[in-house]
Amino acid sequence: MDLLLIGPPGVGKGTQAARLRQALGVPHLSTGDLLRRHVAEGTRLGAAAAAHMRRGDLVPDALVTEMALDQILGPSCAAGVALDGFPRTPAQAEALDSALAGQRRELAAVLHLTAPEETLLRRLTGRRTCRGCGASYHLDANRPRAAGRCDICGDRLVQRADDTAEIARARLVVHTRQTQPLLERYRRAGVLHEIDGCGDVDDVTRRLLALLGQGA
Ligand code: AP5
Ligand code: ZN
Repeated sequence: MDLLLIGPPGVGKGTQAARLRQALGVPHLSTGDLLRRHVAEGTRLGAAAAAHMRRGDLVPDALVTEMALDQILGPSCAAGVALDGFPRTPAQAEALDSALAGQRRELAAVLHLTAPEETLLRRLTGRRTCRGCGASYHLDANRPRAAGRCDICGDRLVQRADDTAEIARARLVVHTRQTQPLLERYRRAGVLHEIDGCGDVDDVTRRLLALLGQGA
């Protein structure tokens, strides 16, 4: 089953994709995580992406699309994937649709998570991310069992460079301008579902699973 989690920065796409992986066994693919790995490893792609990411801008379509499709069409996602952060522009959506069609696949559902801007900013500025495995926590709402340490791999939790209030606001503007136009495409295709991203993490997971016919 191929799924897309779409929505503004901080709405909980990564958190919920990890839950769907646990509940449904669908692998989670985050282009943000992939790009951050490239930046950390100093690859050519990472060097090209870093300045865009620091500003909260999108990385150019050609770079992201090649990186994402390589994974989506590869063996680890052959039985389906929960996409988080890709596609983000109409050109990326076009490329994804035709690549999936080439493997007789299509998006089964596009899950659009929403929350008010003040909630998004609180979630972004309070987020702490595991340096080792990328798992995401929150200072108030989603704390690790041991302060500052990842529950999964025990590595240290750090703040993402683009989670300052200023860059977070810039990312919200970019989302409204460049990603929201995609929603119309999926609405027309009849696969778009609106999900309330407010409430605690479990509440949102229950909504998603109910919608996917997998009542928790
Ligand atoms: P990316 O990493 O994809 O960032 P984003 O879309 O801005 O999304 P976030 O990861 O910030 O938020 P999320 O919705 O996953 O929230 P999370 O679950 O972590 O992209 C980063 C950058 O990479 C982009 O700016 C761009 O430069 C580049 N990029 C990536 N993909 C690209 C593409 N396709 N094209 C071009 N450029 C691309 O939750 C946030 C916080 O809230 C966490 O602390 C979490 O614990 C907490 N939380 C989650 N749910 C709840 C809840 N229900 N209640 C309380 N707290 C909650
Ligand atoms: Zn970890």
